[in-house]
Amino acid sequence: MVETPGTVLDCPFLTDDAVSALVVAVAPPLEEEDGLQPRAGTVDAAARYGIDLAELADRSGGSGFRGAAGEVTTVDLPRTHAGAANPLPWAGLPSTIVLLGIGAGSDLELRRAGAALAGATRGLERVVSAATADATPSGVTAFVEGYLLAAYRTPRFGGGAPSRKVRGPAPDPRAAAEQLVLLGEGAEQQIIAARIAASATWLVRDLSNTPSNIKDPAWFAQQATDLAEAGGLETQVLGPRELAAKGFGALLAVGAASASPPRLVTITYVPEDADQHVVLVGKGITYDTGGLSIKPREAMVPMKTDMAGAAVALAVVLGAAEAGVRHQVTAVLPLAENHFGADSYRPGDVLRTYSGRTVEVANTDAEGRLVLADALGYAVSELAPDLLIDVATLTGAASVGLGRGHAALYATAPELVAGLEAAADATGERVWHMPLVEDYTSALRSTVADLRHVPLEAGGGGGSITAALFLREFTGGLPWVHLDIAGPARATASRHEVTEGATGYGARLLLRYLADLR
Ligand code: BES
Ligand code: MN
Ligand code: ZN
Repeated sequence: MVETPGTVLDCPFLTDDAVSALVVAVAPPLEEEDGLQPRAGTVDAAARYGIDLAELADRSGGSGFRGAAGEVTTVDLPRTHAGAANPLPWAGLPSTIVLLGIGAGSDLELRRAGAALAGATRGLERVVSAATADATPSGVTAFVEGYLLAAYRTPRFGGGAPSRKVRGPAPDPRAAAEQLVLLGEGAEQQIIAARIAASATWLVRDLSNTPSNIKDPAWFAQQATDLAEAGGLETQVLGPRELAAKGFGALLAVGAASASPPRLVTITYVPEDADQHVVLVGKGITYDTGGLSIKPREAMVPMKTDMAGAAVALAVVLGAAEAGVRHQVTAVLPLAENHFGADSYRPGDVLRTYSGRTVEVANTDAEGRLVLADALGYAVSELAPDLLIDVATLTGAASVGLGRGHAALYATAPELVAGLEAAADATGERVWHMPLVEDYTSALRSTVADLRHVPLEAGGGGGSITAALFLREFTGGLPWVHLDIAGPARATASRHEVTEGATGYGARLLLRYLADLR
């Protein structure tokens, strides 16, 4: 992606053979008028092409084009005949013009416009865009981010057996970025910010979309180590023997029936003069069968994505380092496969967690809160965090309540809620603030252990809340944020910048939050 000073009128390389399309922005009519509004760059382009582009856009209205963000229409111009006496005015210029709706031009709308552009220009060699000529810096970032997010393609495992080999370098939207050329001045920083955010999201999507016959705890730990090393970050991996010696009773129990035993991966980014230390804990269940409390067959199908929280924590620590965030950031990834077999943990078992507190298992399908309990306990006693954030595809209840559009947000202080809501506004990754209802803590009482991990009364409701209350027991009273991403981590269809399958939800939200944290 290059940016060039100036406008369509003086863009020097518009006549390059490699440029296949020119993109101009169009907005809906103003209230008392009826023609679509050409935006900055469109008038320029009209002059250079000798075509009334506003009128052309209006005629495209017949096919439903109203200039709203996310709408796009492509005009293919005829070429001059080789022997023509009078060449057409656009001879030598790209013969495809993309009219891109940007609505009112808000960041959210520009992100959607960028996403629509990626869909409309897939496969083209090079696309020159004047659509952000008069956008704010955050608008330019949103536009490029939308473009890169929508350019994502799910990894395919065609051509022979899937390989368990390490996947190589971090997925990089750079190739997609090369396709787009922005007209306008000084967008370099905005483009870098968009690339870091999109690259983090792509990583979460890739890891989450990887099937679980490849992605077991050992594989995930190796991916994390390789990526961290490539980013110059320190990594520690604890295997089953070390986990047993250190007392990770809950993580080991959850992973006991798997052929691939658990791992705990810790990755740290330490900037010079670090301000705060933020520890991110991500649920890393590489497959969730439910264990002995086995899931119904349909419910099991999407469970290869049950490690999305760990992927988010990993992507955020890598992205924070790349962006040069001013805080120390540590990602803690408890990785296990929740399977069933002769070594399974059972409903009724009592486990000793890292913190020393014992937990009565009520349902082996509530495995997420168990691995998180150990990881949070470890973070509290070993890492001296100023702030704990956990991210997890934790409960079906969260997605029943909020759908796929919002994560359930729990936090111990109003400024944490405000910070995450602001980051959600900026990135379009939405959150909904949920209450930590004190009355419900009675559901976590056990007669045989310090805590019961799932309420006794199954129909009591509030499943996302009781899970959060359970986790809070392991946060040592530190400032804490919990994001239940069971809803937004996956999408059943692509829409705007969100792609089908694993969405990568949470990486951009937390990168934004860390960048703005004071
Ligand atoms: N991984 C699931 C939660 C989930 C469900 C994520 C659907 C995404 C989509 C989690 O481990 C789980 O099974 N939770 C149980 C908890 C219950 C047993 C208390 C659930 O939500 O049913
Ligand atoms: Mn489960
Ligand atoms: Zn799970």
